[in-house]
Amino acid sequence: MGDHHQPMRAIAASVMLAVESGESLSQCLPPALQRLELNERPALQALCYGTCRWFHRLDGELAGRLKKPLKRSDRIVHHLMLVALFQLRFSQQASYAILNETVEACRTLGKPHLTGLVNGVLRAAEREGAPEPANAASRYSHPDWMVEKLRHNWPENWQQILEANNAQAPMTLRVNALRFSREAYLSLLQEAGIEATPTRFAPQGIQLSRPVQVDQLPWFADGAVSVQDEAAQLCTSLLDLAPGQRVLDACAAPGGKTCAILESQAGLAEVVAIDESAARLPRVQENLDRLDLNASLVQADAADTKQWWDGQLFDRILLDVPCSASGVIRRNPDIKLLRRETDIVPLAGIQLGLLKAMWAILRPGGRLVYATCSVFPQENHRIIQRFLKHQDGAMLNEPEVQWGRDMGAGRQLLPDPGSHDGFFYAVLEKPEL
Ligand SMILES: C[S@@+](CC[C@H](N)C(=O)[O-])C[C@H]1O[C@@H](n2cnc3c(N)ncnc32)[C@H](O)[C@@H]1O
Repeated sequence: MGDHHQPMRAIAASVMLAVESGESLSQCLPPALQRLELNERPALQALCYGTCRWFHRLDGELAGRLKKPLKRSDRIVHHLMLVALFQLRFSQQASYAILNETVEACRTLGKPHLTGLVNGVLRAAEREGAPEPANAASRYSHPDWMVEKLRHNWPENWQQILEANNAQAPMTLRVNALRFSREAYLSLLQEAGIEATPTRFAPQGIQLSRPVQVDQLPWFADGAVSVQDEAAQLCTSLLDLAPGQRVLDACAAPGGKTCAILESQAGLAEVVAIDESAARLPRVQENLDRLDLNASLVQADAADTKQWWDGQLFDRILLDVPCSASGVIRRNPDIKLLRRETDIVPLAGIQLGLLKAMWAILRPGGRLVYATCSVFPQENHRIIQRFLKHQDGAMLNEPEVQWGRDMGAGRQLLPDPGSHDGFFYAVLEKPEL
């Protein structure tokens, strides 16, 4: 049987199986989408994102409905049932169609011995409706450890964060300041019938009322705008860029912030964009090309300066470190399945190591902006505190901004259902000699 004969829900189940085994949606979804006709692809994407988003709630329900877990070799059928439960609970699709198609998909997956079980479980689920969530992990559909960590870190806000993580994120644009003012681009959108409003904090940001395909955006291919969350756009004003500066973007791929930097200050002497990942670095070049911008790209471990640094100090450094991505779960619901509690301490070690290494190549009088898309203090203000404790002369700059909350060593934005992602920024300055 050819791949293309697999029903969409069977493909969705195989994507979920891949995510469970550690692949991100950005890795395993694109090849899965290729197996379907163009017009079916958005539906597969919605199934996979939705099943990840509600995985922990649906998995709790399914565990309650199964007398014993399926055999390891039948695990795909477990995911097939999760996909069906997602639809029963969160979609408008008729339940008889969901049941029939799921039983049929179970057969095409070569598991005819399980069709009776699948049918029985889903019939009961339909008849009985969703059970009361047994605990917070199931109510908010997050892994236990994340719920507990957030409750501990954010005793006042943890429920708000968990709810924001389950909301649909808005589509936000950054208008290329070298091409259009925000007002001019808002008029173009209005003419195109695309409803949009300016973002509150980012000066070039525009939030769309409804997402659209990028090729519907006026002059997108010609570099008029990029898709970028409002919180991510805030890096440029913190960097305090000026003509003639040499700027380093130490963890650059896919280049969202590299491009924002180049658009916000046309007179920079040079922007060096580094990323360790050979797979991700080409995305930086693609974005630069579309926007007609220039940067020097380097594939390296930024912390290993012997390998790539030419000995010239940088006036400005953006350090957008690898992190748990716990602030952007609403856009990447697979994080809920991929991240482990034991990831955080090693990540913090990498973050502090990168910060120390980048500090050494910052010019006296220069400025370093540390950024994460995390809401865990261990990766955020605690890294800055640990750094300041041991780094003579490093000074914390407290920017006067309207957004986020002051953490004593940097500012935290929590994910906001109506606007920006969860993000952290700290601004450090090196005294003149
Ligand atoms: C948060 S993402 C960067 C997002 C990017 N700044 C943007 O705005 O589009 C972190 C990046 O750091 C890269 N990375 C991780 N460790 C690194 C290291 N030691 N040196 C350089 N890049 C690294 C990863 O490959 C990943 O692309």
